Amino acid sequence: MKPFTILLTILAMLSGAGAGEAGSATYEPAQFFRTQIQPILERRCYECHSHQHEVEGELALDSELGWETGGENGPAVKPGDLKNSPLIQAIRHLDSDSAMPPKKKLPPIEIALLETWVLLGAPDPRTSSNP
Ligand code: HEC
Repeated sequence: MKPFTILLTILAMLSGAGAGEAGSATYEPAQFFRTQIQPILERRCYECHSHQHEVEGELALDSELGWETGGENGPAVKPGDLKNSPLIQAIRHLDSDSAMPPKKKLPPIEIALLETWVLLGAPDPRTSSNP
């Protein structure tokens, strides 16, 4: 599947989530973050971007404030704006200097999920750098 197709599939899944409960579709931003986004960050980024491990490039991804403040080059995510979100540019591996994770590109589904998260306005219920 092409990344864009995956993105559309996820969006379709999200809009259908909760359907059946009196026919109303519900999307829970906090739950979406906890179940789909946080595990990717934990598995792929925390080893270099969290207070439990390293805070490389001065960027911490273990709290909302972390990516809002961002690293050496400012905020890592601009909610709703893929082009101006350095985090998205980095995971797309467009150039080798800023490619993240540095060694291995994420699987397309994980890139699509992170893009979806940014497009949805980057909901993040974490208020501190607790795991
Ligand atoms: C093996 C360590 C390592 C991993 C894993 C890693 N990073 Fe990084 N990251 C770095 C280092 C080192 C820098 C600073 C130097 C640079 O830009 O290469 C950095 C910088 C960044 C920056 C730029 C920060 C700034 O303001 O300059 C972003 C955005 C970023 N990483 C996102 C991510 C994301 C998202 C993940 C997980 C998908 C991730 N990184 C995984 C080591 C890592």
